[in-house]
Amino acid sequence: MIKYLGSKRRLVPVLGEICAQLRARRALDLFTGTTRVAQEFKRRGAHVTAVDTAWYAYLFAQCYVALNGDTVPRAAVADALRDLAARPDVDGYVTETFCERSRFFQPHNGRRIDAMRNAIESDYRETWLYPVLLTALIEAADRVDSTTGVQMAYVKQWAERSYRPIELRFPDLLAGAGAARRADASTATRGLGTFDLAYLDPPYNQHRYFTNYHVWETLARWDAPEHYGVACKRIDARDPSTKSVFNNRRTMPDALAQVILDVDAEVVVVSYNNEAWVTREELEAMCVARGSAVRTLAFDSRRYVGAQIGIHDRRGKKVGAVSHLHNVEYVVCAGEAARIEPLLGASTSGRAQA
Ligand SMILES: C[S@@+](CC[C@H](N)C(=O)[O-])C[C@H]1O[C@@H](n2cnc3c(N)ncnc32)[C@H](O)[C@@H]1O
Repeated sequence: MIKYLGSKRRLVPVLGEICAQLRARRALDLFTGTTRVAQEFKRRGAHVTAVDTAWYAYLFAQCYVALNGDTVPRAAVADALRDLAARPDVDGYVTETFCERSRFFQPHNGRRIDAMRNAIESDYRETWLYPVLLTALIEAADRVDSTTGVQMAYVKQWAERSYRPIELRFPDLLAGAGAARRADASTATRGLGTFDLAYLDPPYNQHRYFTNYHVWETLARWDAPEHYGVACKRIDARDPSTKSVFNNRRTMPDALAQVILDVDAEVVVVSYNNEAWVTREELEAMCVARGSAVRTLAFDSRRYVGAQIGIHDRRGKKVGAVSHLHNVEYVVCAGEAARIEPLLGASTSGRAQA
C-alpha cells in the first residue's frame, strides 16, 4: 500500500474487531484512500463498498475491494505483469514532468513508468486487469519515489530508495465481492444502500489530497495535464471542482454533520483527531442523532513523518521545530446502545472514554 497521510494503519485491528463484533455483513468505507480499512472489513467477511473522490483510490478500491481474488485467473495477472516489465523504455510525460522538471523519481524509473503506463492504457484499458495493473504500478512507483510521503515537494537529495529499479508486484487480492465508487461523500451517501457499519474517515484539515497526491492522480487518469509550480502540480488543482468541502474550516463541520446524518447504517464509526477543526465533543454531538449511544475510543498516535523531521526552508535548512510529535486519534461509535455498548471492549491498545 502507498504511503498516505491519515492512513489508518494503526487503527485497522481495532476497526476490524468492531466489524467482527457487529457481525457486519454490509460495510461502507466512505473516505477509503488506500482502502486498507475496507480491505480489513472484507477480510472480516463483510461485503464492502469503498468510496473516495480520488481516481487512484477508486482504482485501489476496484482492485482490492470489488474484485473477488478467489475467482480471478491469477496466471493472467502474472502474464500481464511480465508483459509490462518487458516493454522498452519510453521518454514520456512522467520522465519529463516528474524526473526532469521536478525530481519525484529518478529518470531510469520515470522511463519505466512511462512505458508501463502507456502499455496499460493501450492494451488493457477495457479489461478487468486495468485497475489491478495500475494499482501494481502506483504502488511500485511509491516504493521508489523521492518524497517524505506527500507530493507537494520532493526531497533535496535523491532518497535512498529512488536509486532502486522500479519493480511491479502482484497485488494481494482478497477473496469475496465488494463495490467501488468514485463519488463525493456529501452527495453520494443517500444512493449507496443500507449498511450494518459505516466508517467515516474524512480529511482533518486544509491539506488537500488532490494536491498532496497529484502524481498518483495523474498516473490514474493519464491525461498529461498542464502543471504549475516547483512540484508540477496539476493545473486543475486550481479549479473549485477539485476542492473538497472537508478541507475548508468554514464548510467542513456542517458537511460532516450532514454525512453522519444521511448515511444509511445501523452503526456509524467516525475517525478524527485532536488537531482537527471540530472538537471531540462537537463530533459526539453530531453523532447523537444516530441512536441512543455515542461512545469514543481514544488512541495515542504518532504524527506523520513531515512533522517528525521538523520544519525546513526551501534549501533544506532546518528553521523550526514542531511543537509536539503525538496526537490523539478518536474513534467515535454511534448507534443503538445494544450495538454500541459491547464495542467498548474492542480496543486492544486504546483508552475507551464513555
Ligand atoms: C484521512 S484520508 C482516508 C484514509 C483512509 N482511511 C486510509 O486508511 O487510507 C481522507 C480521504 O478522503 C478523501 N476525500 C476528500 N474529500 C472527499 C469527499 N468530498 N468525498 C469523498 N472522499 C473525499 C481523500 O481523497 C482521502 O483519500
